[in-house]
Amino acid sequence: MAVIAGNWKMHMAPEEACTFFGAFEIDEMMANNEILIFPPAISLLAAYKCEDRDPRVQLGIQNVHWEDRGAFTGEISAVMAASVGASYALVGHSERRQLFGETDEQVALKVAAALRHGLIPVICVGETLEEREAGRVNEVILSQLDLALTSIPDPEARFLIAYEPVWAIGTGKTATPMDAAGAHGTLRNRLEQAIGATTAARTEILYGGSVQPSNATEILAAQDVDGVLIGGASLNPQSFGEITRAAG
Ligand code: PGA
Repeated sequence: MAVIAGNWKMHMAPEEACTFFGAFEIDEMMANNEILIFPPAISLLAAYKCEDRDPRVQLGIQNVHWEDRGAFTGEISAVMAASVGASYALVGHSERRQLFGETDEQVALKVAAALRHGLIPVICVGETLEEREAGRVNEVILSQLDLALTSIPDPEARFLIAYEPVWAIGTGKTATPMDAAGAHGTLRNRLEQAIGATTAARTEILYGGSVQPSNATEILAAQDVDGVLIGGASLNPQSFGEITRAAG
């Protein structure tokens, strides 16, 4: 049992989203997994209502604003996302951090907003190549995690973590299973210290960054890897299906 999540980024208009679901069938080998798709916000409602979508494929939003409503042109709130079928929210994806200047403080506010409206946050953390080469992986991912955790109100609240090394996203480079296991272990230890052993054991930590059908099996087998967050390969129902099947 693993969490297999597809982040469609700025791909898949409403009609294309429904076409994807028509071509994505969950067979027996895939059925034990929790399957999530994060369409662009404008396609959420179409994905939610699409008759071809197996209801076992759950939906999430790629980003939320931390306020519920107001003068924030172009933004979407967690309460709005929940009203069009989102059950999850990606928070702090590295593209948000790098291209849109999202800070750890904003990420923490977004985690709080998601939880307030019943969305399960998927908190994304990850180091850049420069930070990795400087030996700062643990320092960077823990400081990203620590601030986000200040928004978890009680140990019962469900949230997920996605470890996505920035240098592995969309580049064809993947962390080795050992690198992933190391970072995931570091994150889980911190969860244990901060929130307790039960939450640490239960919280799924996903790996993301150039996951493909060809490398999914070895990544998913790594220690402390509870699932994957897939960008490019999630746009194709066949490859997304193969990765889901690899999780068994
Ligand atoms: P990728 O993206 O699989 O295309 O590398 C992963 C992500 O950004 O979530």
